[in-house]
Amino acid sequence: MKKILFTASECVPFIKTGGLADVIGSLPAVLDREKFEVRVMIPAYTIIPEQYRSEMKTVCYFQSFFNGRDRYVGVKELVRDSVIYDFIDNEEYFGGSYPYTDYYYDIEKFCFFCKAVLSVLPSLGFRPDIIHCNDWHTGLIPVYLKTEFAADPFYQGIKSIMTVHNLKFQGLFNAKVMSQISGLPIELFTIDKLLTYEDGNMLKGGLVYADKITTVSETYAEEIKTPEYGEGLDGIFRARWHEFRGIVNGIDDVVFDPATDSLIPHRYTRRTMLTGKTKNKLSLQKKLGLEQDDSVMMMGIVSRLTEQKGMELISRVLPELMASRVQLVVLGTGEAHYENVFRSAAQAYPGRLSANFTYSEEISHQIYAASDAFLMPSRFEPCGLSQLIALRYGSLPIVRETGGLKDTVIPYNQYTGEGTGFSFLFYDSAVLLDILRSALKTYYENRKGYAKLQRRAMDQDFSWAASAKVYEEMYDEMIGE
Ligand code: ADP
Ligand code: GLC
Repeated sequence: MKKILFTASECVPFIKTGGLADVIGSLPAVLDREKFEVRVMIPAYTIIPEQYRSEMKTVCYFQSFFNGRDRYVGVKELVRDSVIYDFIDNEEYFGGSYPYTDYYYDIEKFCFFCKAVLSVLPSLGFRPDIIHCNDWHTGLIPVYLKTEFAADPFYQGIKSIMTVHNLKFQGLFNAKVMSQISGLPIELFTIDKLLTYEDGNMLKGGLVYADKITTVSETYAEEIKTPEYGEGLDGIFRARWHEFRGIVNGIDDVVFDPATDSLIPHRYTRRTMLTGKTKNKLSLQKKLGLEQDDSVMMMGIVSRLTEQKGMELISRVLPELMASRVQLVVLGTGEAHYENVFRSAAQAYPGRLSANFTYSEEISHQIYAASDAFLMPSRFEPCGLSQLIALRYGSLPIVRETGGLKDTVIPYNQYTGEGTGFSFLFYDSAVLLDILRSALKTYYENRKGYAKLQRRAMDQDFSWAASAKVYEEMYDEMIGE
């Protein structure tokens, strides 16, 4: 059996703030269980719902020296779908009402997490062949493996992978302080290793020391080799191009299935899509206080309200968009500035625009099911899962051709009728407005053609099967037969 350990800061269903949690919650469970023994390690946040916490058993604990004193390191464990989930326990670090706190403290607690992931392995009697690390929170694991832990025979030969889900976040802090906290010698904080300008950079450490690097779509893999998208690290992706690749994400096609989804009021299949979606539209209109109108085009947004997601463009086109016959439903949390934009728009267009600033699985599923189109004009998008979910629910994505959006949405061609959504390239509000108008025109003037696109969208296969195979091949290649 080959042993794979996934590590990350989030994992569905225990804790989620974004798509990273969806990936860690679904990919490990679909790997071939005849060949791979799989474990997942995340922090034991005290805000993980009680239904899971009560299932966890403490399997080991000890004191370990970290950042100036001895600290408690425990492991709580539970098993789901024959995947073992280990939770690194330390209430001082992982208490609190949100997984991320302030900038400094996040650095300290994820340095602790990285070290703890490696320290607990002997007590668990689990020696992975590969540690698959995800995003900056786990960036120091490949570094520790090849430095502080390298002399210990237990760790020798363990390989590591660093997967980038979002290059925007790198885990930066003053190099001297990071050296002190992490216990990594200051000599490692040079420009060819952990340093960018004055700062220690946890993700960079992972990218330099991991045996392989991946990101979550082929187009994003190409984009981040350029200064425009590379966030200062493009040189590493270019230098390590032969150990670096993009593998597109999938979605959990059991959780996201309009035929069985218990969170939506009316279930539907490809065949009953039109009536099913209309019923869901009427229900959502009622629930959110929108005008009851089964023939109006409804657009949905389920997103972090940040610049990455193209919120700047959306705010600029809102007045023109709302001048058309359309309803807009927004669900998201994020920057106050964008919340204010949507809050005033909801007042300006009562009954036609609903803005919901909360995190809700239930409303999100209901928006995917009720909407005719899904708006996601991201400035950059490593993969994007929301557009994949939208496709599965027959809500046509309106996206910018970047990263995973480019790889997963086929643009509508009015001459051939092909496509699964609408897309544009230039990050410009006039261009977005054009594409919004073209979607509206298609919807109102060619409802049959639009329905055909919706069925085709639902037919796309974005389950994990294909991508899981690519990961398995990479693991095989790294471990050897
Ligand atoms: P990112 O990880 O960059 O935020 P993705 O598209 O990869 O973007 O994943 C976002 C995930 O989070 C999707 O599953 C989406 O449905 C969900 N999501 C985003 N905002 C909310 C919200 N306010 N309520 C419920 N789910 C949300
Ligand atoms: C990040 C990216 C998103 C991607 C997700 C899962 O949050 O912003 O594009 O889908 O990670 O890989």
